[in-house]
Amino acid sequence: MISKIEAKRAQAKLGGGQKRIDVQHSKGKLTARERIDLLLDNGTFSEYDAFVEHRCVDFDMDKQKITGDGVVTGHGTVNGRLVYVFSQDFTAFGGSLSKMHAQKICKVMDQAMLVGAPVIGLNDSGGARIQEGVDSLGGYADIFQKNVLASGVVPQISLIMGPCAGGAVYSPALTDFTFMVRDTSYLFVTGPDVVKAVTNEEVTQEELGGAKPHTTKSGVAHLAFDNDVEALSRLRDFIDFLPLSNRHPVPVRPTEDSPTREDPALNTIIPADSSKAYDIKDVITRIVDDGEFYEIMPDFAKNMVIGFARLNGQTVSVVANQPLVSSGVLDINSSIKAARWVRFCDAFNIPLLTFVDVPGFLPGTAQEHGGIIRNGAKLLYAFAEATVPKITIITRKAYGGAYDVMSSKHLRGDLNYSWPTGEIAVMGAKGAVEIIFRNVEDKNVAKFANPLPAAQRGFLDDVIIPAQTRKRIIQDLKMLKTKDLRNPQKKHGNIPL
Ligand code: COA
Repeated sequence: MISKIEAKRAQAKLGGGQKRIDVQHSKGKLTARERIDLLLDNGTFSEYDAFVEHRCVDFDMDKQKITGDGVVTGHGTVNGRLVYVFSQDFTAFGGSLSKMHAQKICKVMDQAMLVGAPVIGLNDSGGARIQEGVDSLGGYADIFQKNVLASGVVPQISLIMGPCAGGAVYSPALTDFTFMVRDTSYLFVTGPDVVKAVTNEEVTQEELGGAKPHTTKSGVAHLAFDNDVEALSRLRDFIDFLPLSNRHPVPVRPTEDSPTREDPALNTIIPADSSKAYDIKDVITRIVDDGEFYEIMPDFAKNMVIGFARLNGQTVSVVANQPLVSSGVLDINSSIKAARWVRFCDAFNIPLLTFVDVPGFLPGTAQEHGGIIRNGAKLLYAFAEATVPKITIITRKAYGGAYDVMSSKHLRGDLNYSWPTGEIAVMGAKGAVEIIFRNVEDKNVAKFANPLPAAQRGFLDDVIIPAQTRKRIIQDLKMLKTKDLRNPQKKHGNIPL
């Protein structure tokens, strides 16, 4: 019996067989198991359900069985921390999803929820197993339901490493992060052939649903990587920032970077001319540990910068207007980008560090008719709802409604600071003078462009020396460790979607 079991196990390891493995390699793609080996710490993978086979008898399927049924599942560690993983095997029925394949995925999701650990899906699949019909559609829905229940309980990450089409796209869409591999992965609801038949539009797979459109235009994917090896290695770095679940603390990684380090260059980083741009990422990297900033969605809505960093070893979430792109203005896409990010971080108790330099909301019919009111409200809602430690630094402009939205004191900000270069007002000095002084130049325009009025009202806790920002916020985060703030009891709120 033991030798029979071991023979089956060896068969499972080969998936769809050497010939199909060679085809997979020839496309520049690794196999499901090679991917797991690169993702997890050496020798830590414990596999479940390696012997599972489909039960379909239609279309002669009972004569075609591949042990494991197109997905490898189990758990292991990433830098010593537990994660659950499923990795679809394109060599077995094109990684297509059968009822049993879905059941394997659901099992690891259930386990991850029970013990509190992230779920990582490595997607490479031809979609619903055509021979199984509605059984396979039911399998997808079972996964979707679990994705929704797991949302906010354990981090869920999808790495798309091959095709992902039709209903299959909705599981990655429900997870917290969707990463893609350039040139070998694509995501679309309907492929180029259907697009051509219905709309007469000619488009390639890459143009329709490759990493480029999804990381620059649709915002469906959060990051793209050049190949499987890079993707899995960067995914390991990403996981290092995450708490294991909503009941675990944020991870702390020891650092040599002194918590009291000052950076005098920050004192002059804001240009003297307030209409001149600067790169907010220079500010972020000078403040956080070891200059390390893991940016998310770097190519989508670049007027807003989001990502992970560490302060005194502890993971923090950064949200920042980017003056380098459209003066850091808030628009539909930047609001949506930051809102979902803030909600993820709040759900997983990751403190929010917000840098503000915002001239307001982007005017125009495109924005108004596109629903900037409804979409901007998402970000406002997300910041207002968040109960994690919230520290905000106004580096320069904080104008109009955008001042309120960007994690202001009024939205239960814990520590709200401005640098001396802060300009906090209803609008810029020029616009204000035009309206209230009817174009007569007023010597008091400076009144609109400084942080004191807000500080005098307690809307700012302090005006701080830029060089000392790191020191201040590390002290604050220490103090806020025991913060206990709860929202009123309710079934759930109704965020403007
Ligand atoms: N159900 C069952 N088997 C599938 C499948 C599916 N949805 N998708 C792929 N396969 C099988 C193929 O029959 C083939 O089997 P074989 O190795 O025994 O010949 C194998 O997977 C590889 O597929 P192939 O078409 O040769 O690979 P490709 O790289 O040329 O193309 C796809 C990949 C995904 C573009 C193509 O397989 C496809 O269009 N699949 C159907 C997608 C779909 O419409 N799914 C339903 C949406 S929910």
